[in-house]
Amino acid sequence: MTHMDIQRHGAVQTIRFNRPEKKNAISGEMYAAISEALTTGEADASVRAHVLLGAQGAFTAGNDLKDFMASGSLAQDIAKITQFLKLVAGLEKPLIAGVDGLAVGVGTTLLMHCDLVYASPESYFQTPFTALGLVPEAGSSLLGPRIMGHALAFELLVAGGKFSAEQALIAGLVNTVVPSDALEAETLKAAARVAAMPPEAVKISKRLLKGDGAEVAKRIEDEVRLFGERLRSEECQAAVRAFFQRA
Ligand code: COA
Repeated sequence: MTHMDIQRHGAVQTIRFNRPEKKNAISGEMYAAISEALTTGEADASVRAHVLLGAQGAFTAGNDLKDFMASGSLAQDIAKITQFLKLVAGLEKPLIAGVDGLAVGVGTTLLMHCDLVYASPESYFQTPFTALGLVPEAGSSLLGPRIMGHALAFELLVAGGKFSAEQALIAGLVNTVVPSDALEAETLKAAARVAAMPPEAVKISKRLLKGDGAEVAKRIEDEVRLFGERLRSEECQAAVRAFFQRA
C-alpha cells in the first residue's frame, strides 16, 4: 500500500496523496511512488502535464514525522527526499496542484515548484520548520523570497505563519481560489488546457521562466545538509517526540 493514487486523464497524469487517516503525511514509500510516477510521466510523450492532488480535505501534512525520529534509516530517508525534490525542481513538463485543506511543510514548499496552483477557500499553508528545530527545505529559502519577498517568506518559512488561501493568493503562491466542490474539476481543466498546447513550446517556455536550475539544485543540497544536521539535534528530536506524545 503506497498511499498514492496515480491516474491518467487523457494527457494529464494525476498524482494523489491518499493517506487521509494521517492527513496525507508523506512516507518514504510515498516519495518513491511519486518520484516513479513523475519519472515515468516525463519519459512518456503521451503525458503532457502532472497534477498533484490531496484527499478528504487534506493536501498533505508534509513529511511523515515518524521518519524524522533518529533511526538507522534516517540517511536513506533523507536521500529519498532529496532525490524527489531535485526531480520536482527539474521537471520539464508542467506541474499543477489542486490544494484543499491543509498544506504543511513540504506540502507548502512543493508548491513553489508548481507552474499553476489552484486552492480552495478552506486551504491553508504553513511550514513549522523552526518550531521543529529545522530549517526550510525544497529550495524554499531561495524560491520563497523570490515569489513573495523577504518579509512574507520569513513569516511563512521561519516565523511559522499560517497563510489562508487569500493570503497565499496575495503572496503569489496560489493562482486562483476556487470553491472546494469545483477545485478538482477546475485544476484538471487548467491542466488539460496546458496539455493541449504544443508540448515542445510549453517545455521551452517553462525552462525560460524557471531560469538556471543549477542554482535551485545547489540550494536544495545546501538545505538538505543543514536539515539533516538539524534533524539529529536535540531541539528537533524533542519537538518530534512531543508531537507524538500529544494527549
Ligand atoms: N507525520 C506523521 N503523522 C502525522 C503527520 C505527520 N506530518 N501529520 C499528522 N499525522 C497523524 C497524526 O499523528 C494523527 O495520527 P493518529 O490518528 O494515529 O494520532 C493523524 O495524522 C491525524 O492528525 P491530527 O494531528 O490528529 O490532525 P489535526 O487536524 O488535529 O492536525 C496538523 C493536523 C497537520 C495541523 C497536525 O497533524 C500537525 O501539526 N502535523 C505535523 C505537521 C508537520 O510538522 N509536518 C512536517 C513539517 S517538516
